[in-house]
Amino acid sequence: MRLIRYQYIWAITAALVSCATAWPFFSNPVASAPKQKPLRVEQHNTGRSLYPYTLREHDPNAEICVAGSKQFTGMVSVSDEKKLFFWFFESRNDPSSSPVTIWLNGGPGGPSLFGLFLEIGPCVLNSHNNGTVFEKNSWTEFSNVLFIDQPAGVGFSTVNGSNSGGPDNVVEAAEDFTRFLITFFGQVFPQYAANPLHFAGESFAGKYIPGYVHYMEQRRKQGLLPSLPTIQSIILVDAVIDTVSSSVLSLYDHFCDVDDEIGAPTTKKPFNTTACDALENAAPECQRLDALCRDTYDGNVCQISHEVCFDTLGGWLMDDVREGGRDPYDDRKACGPNPPICEGFEGEGYAAYVNRSEVKIALGFEEDYVFSGINWDLNQRWERSKDIFVPTTRELAYILDETPIRVLVLNGNNDIIVNTEGQKRVYDHLSWRRQASFRMHRFRNWTWPNEDGKMTVGGQFKTANDTETVDKLAFMTINEAGHTSPGDQRQAVTWLMGCWTGAPPQGADERCFV
Ligand SMILES: *[C@@H]1O[C@H](CO)[C@@H](O)[C@H](O)[C@H]1NC(C)=O
Ligand SMILES: *[C@@H]1O[C@H](CO)[C@@H](O)[C@H](O)[C@H]1NC(C)=O
Ligand SMILES: *[C@@H]1O[C@H](CO)[C@@H](O)[C@H](O)[C@H]1NC(C)=O
Ligand SMILES: *[C@@H]1O[C@H](CO)[C@@H](O)[C@H](O)[C@H]1NC(C)=O
Ligand SMILES: *[C@@H]1O[C@H](CO)[C@@H](O)[C@H](O)[C@H]1NC(C)=O
Ligand SMILES: *[C@@H]1O[C@H](CO)[C@@H](O)[C@H](O)[C@H]1NC(C)=O
Repeated sequence: MRLIRYQYIWAITAALVSCATAWPFFSNPVASAPKQKPLRVEQHNTGRSLYPYTLREHDPNAEICVAGSKQFTGMVSVSDEKKLFFWFFESRNDPSSSPVTIWLNGGPGGPSLFGLFLEIGPCVLNSHNNGTVFEKNSWTEFSNVLFIDQPAGVGFSTVNGSNSGGPDNVVEAAEDFTRFLITFFGQVFPQYAANPLHFAGESFAGKYIPGYVHYMEQRRKQGLLPSLPTIQSIILVDAVIDTVSSSVLSLYDHFCDVDDEIGAPTTKKPFNTTACDALENAAPECQRLDALCRDTYDGNVCQISHEVCFDTLGGWLMDDVREGGRDPYDDRKACGPNPPICEGFEGEGYAAYVNRSEVKIALGFEEDYVFSGINWDLNQRWERSKDIFVPTTRELAYILDETPIRVLVLNGNNDIIVNTEGQKRVYDHLSWRRQASFRMHRFRNWTWPNEDGKMTVGGQFKTANDTETVDKLAFMTINEAGHTSPGDQRQAVTWLMGCWTGAPPQGADERCFV
């Protein structure tokens, strides 16, 4: 029996090696499967519609972020206790007519400032990690970009002024997020309320984004939502909408696949026969439990599916996750000195920079405020509430079937923890109006113009059109990219996003992908 437990951190994302406790329902998990719970938005008392906020403007080339365009930070209260921190950058090109893109990182417990400094933002850390330098390949080239640390308790976002507490489920987090947007577009920057809005996020944001958008669109239909900008598209980056299928269930595909013609593994560091045989043997039971989780949307059932699948399948990966071993976020890299996180997600790198006194003071925080790269306590509370285990496939199907919002899926081909092989099955499996034709389509190469203007293969794609929407659902894979794919292929993904959000850069066809 493999006794390795995952810590469900998807941004960053970790595995905690500990002895699994005996799960009381482990032996006979599904004796009586609960009925499928209806997908609905609970009616919460939203209280006041507008809450106070703070706003400070920074020099476009301030040391804290050499951005090259106007930048603002602030806090929006979403209840008497909870405040969400944001960092807003105007577009470098004609902000008033540029779209607004919201960016979220995952976890749960990972601040979105990770994406600001390491993936899509206008500045990156200097070589001493004690200041920043301008970065040309940023999404601010074509869009106003809004980074929000959330849920409350994560990064600079607070509950009663500290990092303890905060939402442990998607409905409460959605409610806070909605209040944030109402204040942000109603009061803080009303001049941007009419611009096209895109909503992007990575990893566990595959739970947040479909969850929040479903929450907001349902309320909009019921007339319960005060004016909020129209969401044009959502962008799901290495994002989990069905954690088991996107991850451990397809380790076999990622590590055991053999090219029939040459008889050799298709991956650089394949698993050995022992591991591949074990994965193959464990797959049917995991698949059955995962299907049950998707059908019931029941936290207990989904927790069992996770425990079983992550033990019987995930263990074969975790055996190799140690310093110098495999890095679950990128199959090209060796794990760094801090397994199972392996990469500098937590205290090092950007988080240590953001936690410097001069940065905190510039952002309006006390010197002794602790900015942490992962809020483990919040992460564990999402696990205890079981909401971490529940998929968002039905929320995403709702968005595809019931709203005009377009959906772009990006996935790094070197990501292991959220691997392309699994994601392809997840999206082929998703039940929505155009499922049958989407599933039938074959992947083709997509290209982007590199520095010399030469069209270069960036990965593969397939799309499906809705009755009136071209590229209603687009799935793009990214070559030479791990879990943080927009950071790993900054230039290609920046180009792609500029195209997707409606301003085809030079060299682009109107549909970007051909
Ligand atoms: C950053 O570190 C370098 C090298 O130690 C040092 O020369 C420089 O003064 C530091 N800058 C700041 C802003 O602390
Ligand atoms: C926040 O502080 C108030 C007043 O001190 C207290 O009543 C409340 O329980 C606190 N909330 C949390 C989540 O800690
Ligand atoms: C196969 O791989 C697993 C997981 O890395 C390892 O524990 C095991 O020792 C390997 N077995 C052989 C026979 O090499
Ligand atoms: C962040 O800064 C605070 C206050 O200086 C310090 O106590 C804490 O250890 C720092 N945390 C990290 C992760 O560096
Ligand atoms: C797709 O791109 C790969 C390189 O990434 C190339 O080897 C292959 O021939 C291309 N396929 C087509 C059909 O152009
Ligand atoms: C979607 O519509 C575009 C434009 O009409 C067309 O070129 C493309 O072939 C369609 N794609 C699919 C997958 O049907």
